[in-house]
Amino acid sequence: MRLLGLLLLLFAFSPWSFANKFPDLALTPPMGWNSWNTFACDIDEKLIRETADIMVSSGMRDAGYVYLNLDDCWHGERDADGFIHPDPDRFPSGMKALADYVHQKGLKLGIYSDAGDQTCGGKPGSNGYEYQDALQYARWGIDYLKYDWCNTENLSAHGAYRTMRDALRHAGRPVVFSMCEWGDNQPWLWAQDVGHLWRTTGDIINCWDCEVDHGTWSSWGIMRILDMQQGLRQYAGPGHWNDPDMMEVGNGMSADEDRAHFSLWAMLASPLIAGNDLRQMSPETLAILTNAEVIAVNQDELGVQAFKYKTEGEIEYWFKPLANKSWAFLILNRGDKVAEAEFDFRQEVVVDPDLPLTGNKYAAGFANSRYAIRDLWQQQMKGTTKTPLIVTVQPHSVAMYRLTRIVNDELH
Ligand code: GLA
Repeated sequence: MRLLGLLLLLFAFSPWSFANKFPDLALTPPMGWNSWNTFACDIDEKLIRETADIMVSSGMRDAGYVYLNLDDCWHGERDADGFIHPDPDRFPSGMKALADYVHQKGLKLGIYSDAGDQTCGGKPGSNGYEYQDALQYARWGIDYLKYDWCNTENLSAHGAYRTMRDALRHAGRPVVFSMCEWGDNQPWLWAQDVGHLWRTTGDIINCWDCEVDHGTWSSWGIMRILDMQQGLRQYAGPGHWNDPDMMEVGNGMSADEDRAHFSLWAMLASPLIAGNDLRQMSPETLAILTNAEVIAVNQDELGVQAFKYKTEGEIEYWFKPLANKSWAFLILNRGDKVAEAEFDFRQEVVVDPDLPLTGNKYAAGFANSRYAIRDLWQQQMKGTTKTPLIVTVQPHSVAMYRLTRIVNDELH
């Protein structure tokens, strides 16, 4: 009996017992804010506190944006024992005090590190310090870790990300683990028990359809990132999401482009991590980021990513299966001209292309069933699927709908 007890105790503290990420986190795509897209390395505790305040006062927290994530460059030095500390000039009150402040606002605090010796911004990386860093984050009260992939020439991604996952588990505080190796090692094929989300591409930038060449790497506009998601949707689901990068809503594109970007990220079951300066946000940007019906599509409990159903020139038709046999439906106009789109639901057989069909869970029988159509941006009902939907779609913009089944003249 004693021996059994001893063996159980040994197992409980052995590396094998933690051979998985924290369960029951990110069961819907994580929502929050991250400092990088607007502030890059120019961050300090004043910015983070002010951002926390606005996340609450603007209604963003209540709309679901709970993670407040520091990106690169919060770091100071390691101490004589190897423990990392924040930059004392930028974070004079320390990380524990910042986490307490953020928590007391009903938010969660995220931090950033890198699997290599240095981060992309040249700050201390976690290579060789994984367990110590994870312990330090747990002491501070960190809830989310974005783990980058610069300066990792001699490392294997499988090994490095598993090591940090195990370190986080040993430290004991539940942490959402956000893998950021840009899709280089196809994490969707092996990281389901490692991370809660994984980047699928290089960095996003605030343009509709551009590539910005930085020499050894490029950043990509919204349409480019969208196209790079092809073939990946089957790997996403509750607790493990494809991450097409943080949002550029409010960072200089047109309102139509911002709405399209936000709608598409919602359809892709992408993490919704805002990247704009919340202190300067226009009412229009706030209205986009907090559209509850679009967010509900993203946060739908089924956790199934959208698929492109068909393309007609510059127009694309996308469907996302939702719980209760509902669907989200999006019409995208990628082009530079106004377009008339017409969709005759009764002529179309919509079946999820990647997931096995259980009954007709992922098939929309538009010929036999009727659905009510609700426009999620105009926030009004638009008839039913019995008659064709005809809509004018502005350039670089979307129309987005929820389709709810009607049974015996009632919505189901
Ligand atoms: C990489 C990541 C970005 C950001 C920067 C920070 O480029 O992909 O999202 O974290 O590093 O240096």
